[in-house]
Amino acid sequence: MKVTIIGAGNVGTSCASLLAQKNIVKKIVLLDIREKLSEGKSLDISQMLPIIRSNTQVIGSNNDYSKTKNSEIIIITCGIPRKPGMSRDDLLNHNAKIINFVTKKSIFFSPKAKIIIVSNPLDIMAYVSYLTAKIDSSRIIGMAGILDTSRYRFFLSKELNCSHTDIQTVLLGGHGDTMIPLYRYTTISGIPLMEFLSKEKNQKIIEKTKKGGEQIVNLLGISAWMAPSASVLEMVESILHNSKKILSCSVFLNGEYNLYNLYLGVPIILGKNGVEKILELKLNIEEMNLLKESANYVKNMIKKLHNFNF
Ligand code: NAI
Ligand code: 2OP
Repeated sequence: MKVTIIGAGNVGTSCASLLAQKNIVKKIVLLDIREKLSEGKSLDISQMLPIIRSNTQVIGSNNDYSKTKNSEIIIITCGIPRKPGMSRDDLLNHNAKIINFVTKKSIFFSPKAKIIIVSNPLDIMAYVSYLTAKIDSSRIIGMAGILDTSRYRFFLSKELNCSHTDIQTVLLGGHGDTMIPLYRYTTISGIPLMEFLSKEKNQKIIEKTKKGGEQIVNLLGISAWMAPSASVLEMVESILHNSKKILSCSVFLNGEYNLYNLYLGVPIILGKNGVEKILELKLNIEEMNLLKESANYVKNMIKKLHNFNF
């Protein structure tokens, strides 16, 4: 099994490292446009593997897509990340051009691949990749909800002094300020969250979650990569092992939740074919309105895309 990671920056390298440590794929190709970067990063990861007894082969590629040929999964992490004072949306047109280019190249060499998009603004980049690749939307999936729910679980566990591993939750909406962690669908070891935390207090945790990415940008001067790459790994494992996990991911909606022609976060079943099923939850009016608001936000961003040669 072969996995390609486009972009050997913080997220891409961390994905390669985590995946190599798992020893579940034969080969990882780490590709970057910056000369020598992917080769250097791959060597460093490769020289860790004898110590941790992983047989995964990690190779770098200096923008040579022929090395990515016949990958099962392509993880797209290239583009510019956020700097302090920048929103994810500031990255829009710059990253769209990059995603358009790298999707064309990647899918040409691996026509059967599933593509995981990480680059921001996430929901729009997944849409750009989908329009470019011209493959079934079930094979192009955006990573955001796993990261955002992990942040929500982390903040909840701090507030409630409980184990974050006991918290299960679902998230809807775009990767940004309109994300919707679902209070009604959150449980702690099966017990509804509302038994432990009032709606008002939960709203404070949601606000913290929304600002989770920004908090790290402000501390580090650059956006997060450890939790994002662990989130990608969760998706890769569910696809490669056909685990059919229920995960919140950004996927193409064509009538689900009464929304059309956009990528947005919803719970899905993720397996060997990519999106095996989109789960439609019964939302109350408040949740439905929040979802509409989030969808409108993403649709407005799509309108801001300059013309691309899809
Ligand atoms: P980074 O700057 O460390 O790495 C980006 C890499 O992309 C660089 O090495 C750069 O040389 C490479 N690159 C640029 N153009 C390229 C091209 N045409 N072909 C191949 N490589 C190219 O950035 P980082 O921190 O790894 O973040 C990457 C992206 O992921 C950003 O857009 C960031 O906002 C996004 N992100 C998304 C998250 C999510 O939850 N979806 C979480 C964290 C980051
Ligand atoms: C994050 O949420 C930057 O989208 C990235 O950390």
